[in-house]
Amino acid sequence: MKIKNLHTILTNIFKRQGLSQKDSLICSNAIINAELVGAHTHGLSRVKMYCDRINKKVINKNPKIKIKKISESIKHIDANNCIGFVAGDIGIKEAIKSAKKTGIGLVAIKNSGHYGLSGYYAEQAVKKNLIVFCFTNAPPAVAPYGAKKSLFGTNPICFGAPTDSNIPFILDTSVSVINRGKIRVAARSGKKIPEGVALDKLGRPTRDAIKALEGVQLPIAGFRGSGLAWMVDILSGVLTGANHAGRVKDPFEDFTGPQNIGHLFITFKTNLFVNNYSSRIKDNIKRVKKLPKIKGIKEIMYPGQNKYKRFKMNQKKEIKISAIIKKDLEYLKK
Ligand SMILES: NC(=O)c1ccc[n+]([C@@H]2O[C@H](COP(=O)([O-])OP(=O)(O)OC[C@H]3O[C@@H](n4cnc5c(N)ncnc54)[C@H](O)[C@@H]3O)[C@@H](O)[C@H]2O)c1
Repeated sequence: MKIKNLHTILTNIFKRQGLSQKDSLICSNAIINAELVGAHTHGLSRVKMYCDRINKKVINKNPKIKIKKISESIKHIDANNCIGFVAGDIGIKEAIKSAKKTGIGLVAIKNSGHYGLSGYYAEQAVKKNLIVFCFTNAPPAVAPYGAKKSLFGTNPICFGAPTDSNIPFILDTSVSVINRGKIRVAARSGKKIPEGVALDKLGRPTRDAIKALEGVQLPIAGFRGSGLAWMVDILSGVLTGANHAGRVKDPFEDFTGPQNIGHLFITFKTNLFVNNYSSRIKDNIKRVKKLPKIKGIKEIMYPGQNKYKRFKMNQKKEIKISAIIKKDLEYLKK
C-alpha cells in the first residue's frame, strides 16, 4: 500500500476511536516510521492492541496532560494515561526546548503507555543537534539475574548523537536478547524463535514462541544485561512516579487498568565542553570505520546506520501488509 494511503487509513482509525486529529496524526506518523525502519513488531502489528485499549478505556482518548516546570531545564509530565506516542512526542519536544534554552533538558513522564521505538524520539533531538538519552520501562519479560520469574521489561536503552552527516548515531537496543515484539510476531505466525533467547515456564530453553511468552526472556550478557534492565526500571519507573518492579501491565493481555509506563528523556548540547564537536565526532567515526574488517563484513557501521538506510530505501516503496494485519485494519476501519 502507498505510504500516503496507509497514513490516511491509520489517522482515520485513531480518529474513529475518539482521539483528536493532532493525536491521531502523531500515532500514525510513529507507526509508519516503525514500518519504514523495518521495526514491524512496533508498527502495524500493534494498531489493534492500541485500539482495544482505547475501547476498554485503559488508554485515555481525551487526556488532560500536565507539564510541571521544575526549572528551565527540568519538567515532570503527568501523561494522564494517554496513548504513549502522544506522551513521547510532548516529552521529547519539551526536552529539546529546554536543552536549546539552557544547554540541558531533563524530562520525566509518568502515566504513559507503550510509546513504540525510543529511537524515533532520539532522532528528533539529534536533528536539532543535541545529544540524547531515552529510557522507557515495559511489562515483565526478562527475569532478573538469578530469578525464575520475569519482572523487568525489555527496557530499551537509547543514545543518540549528531554525526555531522545526515545519518545520526542512534544506539537503540532492548536489554533482552531479542525484543518481545519479535516473539509475539513469531507466536502469531507460528514461526520458531532463535535458540538462546528464552526459557519456558519451567526454566527450560525453548524455541517455541508461545512457550517463550509464558516463560522468561533472557537478558543480553547475563547479569550485565539484567543490571541494565534494572537501571532503566529505576530511571523510567522509580524516578518518574510511574509503575516499576514488574507492575507495568502487559498491553496485549491485561486490560484491568492503564499501564502507567514511565519515560525519561535527557538532552544536551554538543558544545558544552568543546567547541569543535563536529570535527571530533567525524574523526571518531572515521577512525573506527577504517579498521581492518573481519571476513564477510563490507563496512563497519555505527548504530543507526542500518535503520537509516532501510528508512531511505523503504520510503520509495509501498508498505507490505500481511494478511493478518489487513484483517485487523479492515475490522478497525468499520
Ligand atoms: N517501547 C518499548 O517498550 C520497547 C521495548 C523494547 C524495544 N523497543 C524498541 O524496539 C526496537 C528494536 O529493538 P532491538 O533490541 O530489536 O534493536 P536491534 O537489535 O534491531 O538493534 C539494536 C541496535 O544495534 C544497532 N545495529 C544493528 N545492526 C548493527 C550493525 N551491523 N552494526 C552496528 N550497529 C548495529 C541498531 O542500529 C540499534 O541501534 C528499538 O527501537 C527499541 O526502542 C521498545
